[in-house]
Amino acid sequence: MACRICQAAVVDILDLGSTPPANLLKSTRDAEQDEYPLVLQWCDKCGNVQLRDTLTAEELYRDYLYVTPQSSMLNTHYEYLSGFLKQHGYLDENAFVLEVGSNAGYFLEHLKPSVRRILGIDPAAEIAAEATSRGIPTTADFFDQRSAALAVEEHGKPQLIAARHCMAHNDSPHEMVAAAASILDDDGCFVIENAYVLNTIENTEFDQVYHEHMFYYSIRSMKHLLAMHGLRLVDVTMSLVHGGSIIFVAKHDGAGELAETARQYEAREEISLTIPKFEAFAQRTEAIRESLRELIGNLVADGQRIDTYGATAKGNTLLNYVGLTDAEIQRCVDSTPAKQGRFLPKSSIEIVSEETAAADPPDYFLLTAWNYREEIIAKVRNSGNYKSKFIIPIPFVQIV
Ligand code: TYD
Repeated sequence: MACRICQAAVVDILDLGSTPPANLLKSTRDAEQDEYPLVLQWCDKCGNVQLRDTLTAEELYRDYLYVTPQSSMLNTHYEYLSGFLKQHGYLDENAFVLEVGSNAGYFLEHLKPSVRRILGIDPAAEIAAEATSRGIPTTADFFDQRSAALAVEEHGKPQLIAARHCMAHNDSPHEMVAAAASILDDDGCFVIENAYVLNTIENTEFDQVYHEHMFYYSIRSMKHLLAMHGLRLVDVTMSLVHGGSIIFVAKHDGAGELAETARQYEAREEISLTIPKFEAFAQRTEAIRESLRELIGNLVADGQRIDTYGATAKGNTLLNYVGLTDAEIQRCVDSTPAKQGRFLPKSSIEIVSEETAAADPPDYFLLTAWNYREEIIAKVRNSGNYKSKFIIPIPFVQIV
């Protein structure tokens, strides 16, 4: 197996066993599902961390139910991101903004009053149609050179192309980057947001590893990828969403220089992305598994009722790697209507609404949506539930 960015040889750094795709929820408890290995690899040449075994878009997305949650944390993030882009001159009121993988269109909705034109493009047809009906024009398609050319024909060249949390979701990012490079306006910006590999490794976020996440980008690997398509990284900024994300800003080669902040993070990557650091990460991952097994085992033996909170993709990696099932965990609570009534892959835990959980609270919630920790705990307490304690699994197991 070679690096899917630069084709150099890679080494394995983490093995989490085999699981079904994390977002393929089951419609019955006993439904059979195929399982595929979750193995991470490192490329020392370009700084890429990648998933060894990838699935096709058809296997991953045919029954895709992910809809961006309505979240105050995300609204704050959209505010921060648009402010950052405007302050640094990457976005102004004359811009046509094209968002790739726009899902329900909440970021475009946020930008709409302050830019000239918006367009989303997302392969999930139903979610795209729903966004369009809310006034966020969204084309139901994959983003590639063909669909990019069609968008330009109709709307002109974009001054800003955003690809938020979708660049890792495809086994070849080359097609998407080439498509963006082929239509981006001369002085335009390509803005990529993704979970940041430094956070994943340093905070022991092994649960970020699932089949949709085929790449774990570093500044080094992103620079390499962009350069292969005539683009240059000019800036980065950080955000707390999804357990720590990085926002890369790129321009056409020659249209800008790398900012000092990015250089500082690059220096940190040199120290933190090394084989000994990956070994320590794998050991901490095992330690979390052992503590969770022990804690949940003791609580169950003690007659305590445990639900998980958040039918997240990362939660499925966590449950399946730790080996927790509907034998120990009674229900999974989630606010997404399309997920309710379904069952988590492999662990077979039934998904129920927040209202159902509030009516009959468990003794403990295992917070599988730990990235929304403050928001969810506040919501549960505001609903009048002061009984349930929270088990936070990452970056180490703790009860709050
Ligand atoms: P997300 O963080 O996107 O996780 P992943 O990328 O690992 O799939 O998913 C968050 C999930 O948590 C989503 O299914 C909605 C749910 N959720 C709630 O149930 N209640 C809440 O208050 C919030 C913010 C999210």
